[in-house]
Amino acid sequence: MVTHPLELINVSKAFGGLRVAHNVSFSVAASGITALIGPNGAGKTTIFNLVSGVYSVDSGQILLAGNDVTTVPSRFRIKHGIARNFQNIRLMQHLTVTENLMLGQHIKTHGLKDLFRPFRFLPNYKWQREAREALAEAGLVDYADATVTALPYGIRKRVDLVRALMADPKLLMLDEPAAGLNASEANDLMEELSRISKAGVALLIVEHDMNFIRNLCQQIIVLNFGEKIAEGSMAEIQKNPAVREAYLGTDEGEAHAS
Ligand SMILES: Nc1ncnc2c1ncn2[C@@H]1O[C@H](COP(=O)(O)OP(=O)(O)OP(=O)(O)O)[C@@H](O)[C@H]1O
Ligand SMILES: [Mg+2]
Repeated sequence: MVTHPLELINVSKAFGGLRVAHNVSFSVAASGITALIGPNGAGKTTIFNLVSGVYSVDSGQILLAGNDVTTVPSRFRIKHGIARNFQNIRLMQHLTVTENLMLGQHIKTHGLKDLFRPFRFLPNYKWQREAREALAEAGLVDYADATVTALPYGIRKRVDLVRALMADPKLLMLDEPAAGLNASEANDLMEELSRISKAGVALLIVEHDMNFIRNLCQQIIVLNFGEKIAEGSMAEIQKNPAVREAYLGTDEGEAHAS
């Protein structure tokens, strides 16, 4: 049997009376890039929050690398190979790029509670070297000593991505990584994500930019009102009547959100 880095089985979640995920099932392939798309409010970020354990499910199961983590606390799910970004960047603004990446490693080795005493590890030169190597691979070494506040937005987003990779994930989940980027920054990000994918990390991406999805993703899962309405290649989901209806009013019924 093939083990998927992530599998959702009939996952449901409601906030008060609002059903935000309803019997959602899908799995993410061990290699390649999977997209999770859908109109605003479809439940995409909620799925990320359920997978990473920010929210608990009402019913259903979440499996990471074949292990049922449905009731496992968020901080322990990292040990099962997932890392994520957030829809808004969560770098420590007053720290340097290298220091932020070292925090990413710290989570891998010690767990989130140690974030309350982050400076204990600053003399750790091995981690510093690894952080710099990761920056060099991403073409960002020039920014190693810059504080986050001094960086342009596009660079911050790429640093945030390297930070997520410092935990050595098997699956990286990215919520709208291209949001707010100009065309050239989005291209750089696409290249970076291909590189990460080829290095053996499975990617699950929420993104509204359909050009981005078309170029990068082999498998696409479509949500609408908390339900999965389609799954397949770009060509398949573009032909799907339910998808066209969900995105009504756009170019030739092409999936295109926000
Ligand atoms: N903590 C919460 N409490 C109550 N309602 C919530 C909460 N989080 C999300 N929701 C609601 O759940 C629904 C799905 O929200 P979610 O953020 O998952 O959508 P999304 O697909 O990520 O949308 P977008 O494309 O705008 O980011 C929305 O109606 C939202 O208002
Ligand atoms: Mg969202």
